[in-house]
Amino acid sequence: MAAHPKSHLWPFVPSGRIIDVVKAEGVWLHLADGTRILDAAGGAIAASIGHGRREVADAMADAVADTGYIVPTFLTPQRERLVERLTSNWLPKHLTRVHLSSGGSEAADAAIRLARMHHIAKGDDARWKIIGRTPSYHGATALTLAAGGHTARQKGFEPYAPDLPKVPAPYALRSPLGRHHADEDLRCAKALEDTILSEGPETVAAFMAESITGSSGGALQPGPRYWPEVQRICRAHGVLLIVDEVMTGFGRTGARFGSEHFDIKADIMFAGKGLTGGYAPLAGIYTTEDVVAPLAARGDSLMFYTYGGHPGACAAADKVLEIIEREALVERAATQGAKLQALLQERLGQHPHVAEIRGRGLLWGIELVADRETLEHFPSDAGITNAVVAHGLREGAFFYPGGTGEVRDVICLGPAFTVSDDELEMMADRLLSAINAATAHKAAA
Ligand SMILES: Cc1ncc(COP(=O)(O)O)c(C=O)c1O
Repeated sequence: MAAHPKSHLWPFVPSGRIIDVVKAEGVWLHLADGTRILDAAGGAIAASIGHGRREVADAMADAVADTGYIVPTFLTPQRERLVERLTSNWLPKHLTRVHLSSGGSEAADAAIRLARMHHIAKGDDARWKIIGRTPSYHGATALTLAAGGHTARQKGFEPYAPDLPKVPAPYALRSPLGRHHADEDLRCAKALEDTILSEGPETVAAFMAESITGSSGGALQPGPRYWPEVQRICRAHGVLLIVDEVMTGFGRTGARFGSEHFDIKADIMFAGKGLTGGYAPLAGIYTTEDVVAPLAARGDSLMFYTYGGHPGACAAADKVLEIIEREALVERAATQGAKLQALLQERLGQHPHVAEIRGRGLLWGIELVADRETLEHFPSDAGITNAVVAHGLREGAFFYPGGTGEVRDVICLGPAFTVSDDELEMMADRLLSAINAATAHKAAA
């Protein structure tokens, strides 16, 4: 096959495939060759209000004209407006302090540093360990890879970061107690307490987890007793609870944050992606007065990132959140999500290679297997996930590849909340065709 004429430019590691997008509108990506792709994943599950909103672009342009680059420790009108909107309309009421970064990995990194600094400032220097979960993903820096449970992305980087303790994230379909066993939630919560005790509670700074596991697990939700028990355990052992809402935040699951579904009261929460609906690089670390007070008492500050809270990005976020409020898009994520669920069930519910369709709001994961009775995987070298994504692109739809290497063959959907009923139908049809094409003639491992 002839090389693409722009393959010397993009992507960084040549892959032979270039998706050359020249314009994006609503849930559609328009390509240089005149074709279009249905963006069933909101990019990396980030776009929420739909592409091409002029008023967001105008707000960003005004902000950059007024206050181009201002060091993150200074206040600007855009930062002030955004933090006011966040604390009055969006964040759980107990989270009153806001620190801004440029993306989710930076936010996760800052959340870990904040937890550690909090304990040091209180004279509790021994508390440094962050307990994470498998599967999970919190970012691609050395520290956030170490705190996460994503085998494929961690591979090779182990020497650069400490081997942080891990506990299982609830995964009902494949629970070692039995498929969809009712005690999977308690099993995983107990694993947390056992790990805190075996590590020594006096050495544990924080437990870090996504409220609903994003693409690493493919929209895995815990059973009802998980989060109450986890919160009790963290409190009992003086361990801070850090909740990652990067993928699940700002309406994606049909609530402002995934935490709302489970009544989670995090000590530190961080969320990006939907904060600007993909229009600008921005994420936030949100915490309590109690977490920050020991730092303030010592005159410590949390080191910023140069572009954290950039005025243009803050203006984009403020406008995107205003649009979500004005158009009731969180509620729309819930209603369109229910329609998507019904369509996926109808098209794929009985498919011989679909083990589970799971999710909430407009975050969905579809786990594919060679045999839906035994849950046997396809061989890993069959590359089913990538094949579905590639066939999807041929069908004119972009689906997001999920999984961690250990969790396999998971396809994620996360369209913008503005997606229409017809577009949802197209998404489900194109996904069925892509799955059929990718799994045809593939045998079990
Ligand atoms: C749950 C979760 N946390 C953290 C991150 C890292 O965010 P970013 O890619 O913006 O650095 C991601 C990215 O996909 C994510 O899904």
